Amino acid sequence: MQILIDRYNPQSDSAPYTQSYHLIDDEIGEDTMLLELLQRLRIQDPTLGFRSSCQEGVCGSDGMNVNGNNCLSCITLAKPLGNRIHIRPLPGFPVIKDLIVDMQLFYDQYKNVDPYLKSDEKLSSDPEHEILQSPEEREKLDGSYECILCACCSSSCPSFWWNPDLFPGPAALLAANRFVIDSRDITTIDRLKSLDKAEKTFRCRHIQNCTAACPKGLNPSRAIQGLKHKIVKNRS
Ligand code: SF4
Ligand code: FES
Repeated sequence: MQILIDRYNPQSDSAPYTQSYHLIDDEIGEDTMLLELLQRLRIQDPTLGFRSSCQEGVCGSDGMNVNGNNCLSCITLAKPLGNRIHIRPLPGFPVIKDLIVDMQLFYDQYKNVDPYLKSDEKLSSDPEHEILQSPEEREKLDGSYECILCACCSSSCPSFWWNPDLFPGPAALLAANRFVIDSRDITTIDRLKSLDKAEKTFRCRHIQNCTAACPKGLNPSRAIQGLKHKIVKNRS
């Protein structure tokens, strides 16, 4: 199997380049994940840079572009990718080294949507008092809270590529919607007003790359659609 990896170390390389590696096919089982191949390659070549931590699709640290699609290497089976795999860093982010990208703008956009519950202060500061939700209210949060912030969605979104400093991106908007629909949050109107800007929620064109890329099976595009409806309703 041939594995091509786009490499770049801004501190020592004048330009990015593609390096070709080889692994013996017989040693790659039906259940071998791509991350395992990268780990084998790093034994061959300790200079190869990539992130990983949990190896279970939970921490979100090993997002990368594989044969043109964003994915998490730890939960991506290697065999179905074919005998020639091309791995690139997540598109749209500055490269720190090889497959390691700088995700600061992504985290800044997430932080900007205040991704935490703002409930009645008296109630939330009283440890004896639960803020209750009905099962139906709780169910509305399914499909939003499971996000692991891997950035596979935002990194596949052209609106985020062009304006990562202005457009929150699908992951941040999914989080924004998660708190807008939370029955315990008391700042819904303020949240909707702050998202009611051409360069924010309405910069999304629903090309669905985010939904196709999400390794957790979430649907940021649908969440943004819902957010748009609520924003427009909030105007009247
Ligand atoms: Fe990753 Fe999906 Fe969350 Fe986007 S919505 S950051 S793709 S888990
Ligand atoms: Fe944690 Fe892949 S290593 S999600």
